[in-house]
Order: sequence, then C-alpha cells, then structure tokens
Amino acid sequence: MERASTSPLSVVPNDLEPYWMPFTANRAFKARPRLVARAKDMHYFTPDGRKLLDGAAGLWCTNAGHNRHTIVKAIQAQAAELDYAPAFQFSHPKAFELASRVAALAPGDLDHVFFCNSGSEAVDTALKIALAFHNVRGNASRVRLIGRERGYHGVGFGGVAVGGIVSNRKQFGALLAGVDHLSSTYNRAEQAFTIGEPEWGGHLADELDRLVALHDASTIAAVIVEPVAASTGVLPPPKGYLQKLRAICDRHGILLIFDEVITGFGRMGYAFAAERYGVVPDMITFAKGITSGSVPMGGVLVRKHIYDAFMKGPEHVIELFHGYTYSAHPLACAAGLATLDLYRDENLFERARKLEAPWAQAAMSLKGLPNVLDIRPVGLTVGIDLASKPDAVGKRGYAALEASYYDHDLMLRAVGDTLALSPPLIVSESQIGEIFDKVGKIIKQVA
Ligand SMILES: Cc1ncc(COP(=O)(O)O)c(C=O)c1O
Repeated sequence: MERASTSPLSVVPNDLEPYWMPFTANRAFKARPRLVARAKDMHYFTPDGRKLLDGAAGLWCTNAGHNRHTIVKAIQAQAAELDYAPAFQFSHPKAFELASRVAALAPGDLDHVFFCNSGSEAVDTALKIALAFHNVRGNASRVRLIGRERGYHGVGFGGVAVGGIVSNRKQFGALLAGVDHLSSTYNRAEQAFTIGEPEWGGHLADELDRLVALHDASTIAAVIVEPVAASTGVLPPPKGYLQKLRAICDRHGILLIFDEVITGFGRMGYAFAAERYGVVPDMITFAKGITSGSVPMGGVLVRKHIYDAFMKGPEHVIELFHGYTYSAHPLACAAGLATLDLYRDENLFERARKLEAPWAQAAMSLKGLPNVLDIRPVGLTVGIDLASKPDAVGKRGYAALEASYYDHDLMLRAVGDTLALSPPLIVSESQIGEIFDKVGKIIKQVA
C-alpha cells in the first residue's frame, strides 16, 4: 500500500502564524482572532455563524452592500469569458466602457481615467502624473508636493511622504524629498460636536500661500488633500477651505489633487465629494467603492488639459511611462460596471444624501456618554473620539473593537481611540438606530 504523501503540497495548513497581517496588531489578533467567513448585504457572518451588522462597509469600501447578486454574476461571467488582457499596448472593451462611465460621474472636464489596483497606487500615479505634466510643459522645476498633517494617502512611498501620520512615516527613512505639509484642519476647541463642515478653520487654506512664499510657486507641482480626511478620524473640511485651496492653486499654477478613495462613490452623498463642495480639482484619485470592494481596483481621473498635454510628439511613442500589469483588469472592470449600475438603479448616492440628517442625529445621541470627547458626522460617516487611557493610547479603541465583534455583533473601525463608522449606503433607518444603540453600549462597556 502506498503511504500518504507528506509533501508540503498535500498538507492542509491551519495555522494563524504565517500570515503577517497588514495594519494589524498581529499578536493580539492571533490570540483572539476576529474572522468573517461570509457576507450578504448589510451583514457579515463569522465562521461559527454569528451575524454581524456592518457599520464600516468593510474598510470603507462595500458601498453597495455585500455580495450583491448582479456584481457577483458579472464577476463570474467575466472570469469565464476573458480572464486577462495585456494592459500595455492592448486592452479589452470593458476598460473603455468603465472609464467612460466614471468620467461621466465626475464634475467639470475630469474626462480621462488612468486605472490601477488600489488607493495607494492611485495616489502614487496622481503624484507622478503631476510631476510629469509640469515636465512635459517645460516646467521641470515644479517638483515639490504638498500634503497635509493627518492626511492618509495609502502606503506607497509617495503617498506616505505626502501623508501626515507619524506612525506611518517614522520607520521608513527619508521618504520623498521636497515634500511639505499644510496643517490639519482639525481643532477640537473650535469645532467639537459640529455636524458637517465646521465654521472655524477656512483660513487654514491660507497656509498654502505661506508655503508658496517659502518655496516659490515655480517649484511646486501639486497639492493633495482628502476633501474629508477619513482614515485619521473623519475630519470634515471647514467651510470655504477647499474653495480657497482651489483659488490659491489657480493663482500659482499648482495642480490640486483630491484623494477621494473613501469620499468617492456616494460616501458624501454624491458621486464625488468634489461635487458636494462645488470644487473641480485637477485630479481625483478613487478606489474602494468603484467595485464596492469586490475586486481590487483604483484609478485617477484627470482633467482634459492634463491628458492633452501628454498627447504630443510622434504617435508611436508611449506618452506616459507608467502603468500596472493589472491596470483595468477584466474582473475589476466587470465588477465596476455592475457596481455603477447598482448605484444608479438604486439611487444610492441620493439615498446617502437623504440619510445624512438622521445619521447625524443618531450619532449625536451618544454625546454625554463616558469619555466621548467629540462626534463628527458628515455624509454617511462619523468619527467619535474617546478619551485615551492615561497610560495606554489606543487601548480603549482596541477594547471597543473587540467588544463590538465579540459582544455586540457589530463591525466598526477603531483608529487609536477614535471610532469610525461608515455603513454601506443601503443601510436602513432602523439599522442606523441599531448601529448607534450598539456603539453606545460599547462605549459604556469600555469606560
Ligand atoms: C484617502 C485614501 N487614500 C488612499 C488610500 C489607500 O488605499 P489602498 O488601501 O487601497 O491602497 C486610502 C485607504 O484607506 C485612503 O483612505
């Protein structure tokens, strides 16, 4: 009789150790894992069958809800029809169809789309396009990039450099040269418990003029900001701030990039937050909601004059030496088209806009609970700051994360001691009540 093979290929591994998890406290997780095995619409299901209400849209991405039938079908059909098309010098029809559909959703003449696979790639792509744009126009001295404190732009070297999160930066050396930062727009003393955009802080955009005076406009390529800084705790822009940034950029020939990886596709009640704020940036980065999280995809929308600046010279020559093997992957394009159909057919952006007031009201009902220092609802998201324990920043937030998963059947996001909520846009008013009822209990539990 033949002995059963013990080669590594025949062994079924069942060990938490080999997977080095991203942005995760690995040892704490592996001691007490939080796994999900299945999802549908507004819910996740744990491997042992518990049903969790998703208050976070996964990781700010499943805006249309989980495992929507038409998206699943579109991915399955695409996998059976065309698994892959070379992204360089060849393509497939759905890439063009999706680019047209995304461009049609964007304001102004943001008419062209460069596809990639994540928000981080989208950001680095946008920064490279900004540098190359000035270069092809003969302004090669415009190399500086301006970001903002408390900004999150993913984990590529470019995105980390313009980002403003110290823990994401400090282990990784000098990052990019020639980067400067605006101040964060958040000031608790001036803004605490504001619904939507705070009155105080529009003047902080004038800092861009200060940076121009310091560096000279002729050295600055672009400014990148999230219209609402989401990952560092949901920081809505002060009234007038983004409009002012636009005006200063225009005055100095600086490109303005909105990083809409989270704010895009309905989170702020519109296809893009640019529309909510009536500001047309020169580029918009997107990811996450484009496929409702179902297949990785990201991209950059660029204005016509930027694209046109590259379309010069001999026609057989590549205009931009940049791209990814999986740019506009067929599965992502199929998922994206089905997702945009759902957003349209179910009026999900408008739905988010209508739910914004009841959402904010329910969020504000937590004011006065122990340790609640601020609540910032905007669009269909909110940041709730809890006081840190004196000796352990982040410990209360982590306890809330564990309590939500294990004790209250809720998926939420904790960033340090700030809780962030951002449900799928299909959330019902009664589920909004359920979310904040659970969050209230969690806050009391971790007091
Ligand atoms: C504004 C913003 N930019 C970029 C990223 C990075 O996206 P990804 O994790 O897909 O690389 C994120 C992720 O949360 C984000 O919020």
